[in-house]
Amino acid sequence: MKVIRTIAELKQALRTKRREAWSLGTEGSVGFVPTMGFLHEGHASLLKRAREENEIAVLSIFVNPTQFGPNEDFERYPRNEEKDLSVAADAGVDFVFMPPVQEMYPGKSSTTVSVAGVTDRLCGASRPGHFDGVATVVSKLFHIVEPDRAYFGMKDAQQVAVIETMVRDLNLNVEIVPCPTVREPDGLALSSRNVYLSEEHRKEALVLSQALALSDRWLAAEGGRVEALTRRITDYIQSSPSADIDYVEVLSYPSLTEPKEGEHNELDKGLLIALAVRFGQTRLIDNRLIPYG
Ligand code: PAJ
Repeated sequence: MKVIRTIAELKQALRTKRREAWSLGTEGSVGFVPTMGFLHEGHASLLKRAREENEIAVLSIFVNPTQFGPNEDFERYPRNEEKDLSVAADAGVDFVFMPPVQEMYPGKSSTTVSVAGVTDRLCGASRPGHFDGVATVVSKLFHIVEPDRAYFGMKDAQQVAVIETMVRDLNLNVEIVPCPTVREPDGLALSSRNVYLSEEHRKEALVLSQALALSDRWLAAEGGRVEALTRRITDYIQSSPSADIDYVEVLSYPSLTEPKEGEHNELDKGLLIALAVRFGQTRLIDNRLIPYG
C-alpha cells in the first residue's frame, strides 16, 4: 500500500499501475472510495467492495473544508491518520491519497459544481452550500483518480442522489455503487461523529434507528399516509429528552420530492425516511428506504 499526498504523484502511480495491468491483458479497473477519514466499519465495507470488484483500489482521505458551514465542525472534525492507514491496509487498498488542503485548493477557485433539485430538501436545506462543497470536491477527485467505479454509503442517501445526478448530467465516466448502511449491534448507524457523543447521548441516540425500524409497521397502520408517519416518528424521537430535531422527512427517492398519494415518478425506487437530530453539539443523520411495492 502506498500513501500519496500530491495529485501529480497519484496520477503517475495510477498510470503505471494501469499500464502494468494492460500489459498482463487485464483491464486495470479502478475502484475508488472517497472519505474524510476517521475510518470505521462503514468505510471498511466500501473499501472491501472496491477491493473485490476492481483490480486497483484507491482510498482518499480529505477533510474537505468547502463542505463545512462557518459554524460547523471543520476544525474539530476527528482525525487519526495511523488508525486510518491500518484500516486501509487491512482492506487491501493499493493507494491512499491524503492531500493537504493546499494541494486540493491552492488558490482562489472560480468554479463550483452545484446540483439543483435534489439538494432542495433535507441536508441541502439545513446546511446551505454543503452539497456544492461535496459535488465540487468529488468531481475534482473523480478527475484526479479517473475511477471506473466509486463507492458511496446509503447512510448519506442524499449525497448518493446528488453524486448520481452530477454523474448523469455531466456524462462522467464512472459507475456509482451505493452500499448499505453499517450499524452498531444496537442499531446506531456508524459515523465518525459518534465519538462526540456523551454516554447519555449515545444511549438516547438509539431513538433514530428504533424509529426507522418501526416505520414500516407505522406506515402500514396509517394506511400509507406520509404525514401521519412523520408525526409518529417525530413523537417517538421527542420522547428522548435531549433530542433536538433538525428534520424528519419522508420523500420519494432518489428524486427527493414530496411523495404523491397512489402515484410516483417511475424513476423513483421507494420512500426515503430521513432524519437529522442533534444531541448536544452533535448532529446525527440516519435514514431508511422503503422500496415501492
Ligand atoms: P465520510 O463522511 O467520511 O464518508 C465517506 C463514505 O462512507 C460516504 O460514502 C459515506 O456515506 C460512507 N459511510 C459513512 N458511514 C457509513 C456507514 N455507517 N455505513 C456505510 N457507509 C458509510 O461522505 C463523506 O465523507 C464526504 O462527503 C465525501 C464524499 C468524502 C466528500 O468530501
